[in-house]
Amino acid sequence: MTLAIIGGTGLTTLEGLEITRREVVRTPFGEPSGPVIHGVLQGREVMFLARHGYAHTIPPHQINYRANIWAMRHLGVRKLIAVAAVGGISEEMEPARLAFPDQIIDYTYGRRHTFFEQDLTDVVHIDFTYPYDQALRDVLIAAAEEADLGAVPWGTYGATQGPRLETAAEVRRLARDGCHLVGMTGMPEAALAREAGLAYATCAVVANWAAGTGGRTVTMDEIEANLVQGMGRVRTLLARVVPR
Ligand code: HPA
Repeated sequence: MTLAIIGGTGLTTLEGLEITRREVVRTPFGEPSGPVIHGVLQGREVMFLARHGYAHTIPPHQINYRANIWAMRHLGVRKLIAVAAVGGISEEMEPARLAFPDQIIDYTYGRRHTFFEQDLTDVVHIDFTYPYDQALRDVLIAAAEEADLGAVPWGTYGATQGPRLETAAEVRRLARDGCHLVGMTGMPEAALAREAGLAYATCAVVANWAAGTGGRTVTMDEIEANLVQGMGRVRTLLARVVPR
């Protein structure tokens, strides 16, 4: 089963990936975030795409999620691991930790969020009760346990519009809604992956305490420092996950 990794903030390259080629994919939905990188990681072929572009220039609300997912499907990808930086809302979700969310609440708006828009013979409603693929989550959870990464194997991901961070009141609302994590790129990516028939799971990397938790504001410096540590854990994780 062809595996691909979509990297987010802090993961625009995949260390240890022996790159074999870069492929520009044209899609009916426009341009993906960049060429898809084909390579070999831990002896296994994988594809990689940097969600924000390889120079990290595409903000969350301008990512062409449809083109990215379409390109993956077109290239034969069947399993997709999404790495995404998030803010931590609940107390387990401390900075630099990894978490594998099991639910999503979507607060984004105005994004092109479905493939089922035109030329329909029937209205399509995908089942999205469990938005992440459980088998792929199990692989991530087992690998993180073996590597003793202290990852949190659950969590509800609140997807916000960005690119600004949230207000303290917005984070309080997210917490009341039951969100444990907040990020800007989880949707519509997860739903499009389901529409495209890809097994999709997210490895969230906590970059900061969400705005206002413990009376704090958020600084880019702390985000960067935590992501360096968190992405080190992601690399350890992927080195175990990929050969399976
Ligand atoms: N909020 C939303 N997205 C994020 C955050 C945050 O606090 N940190 C990293 N991505």
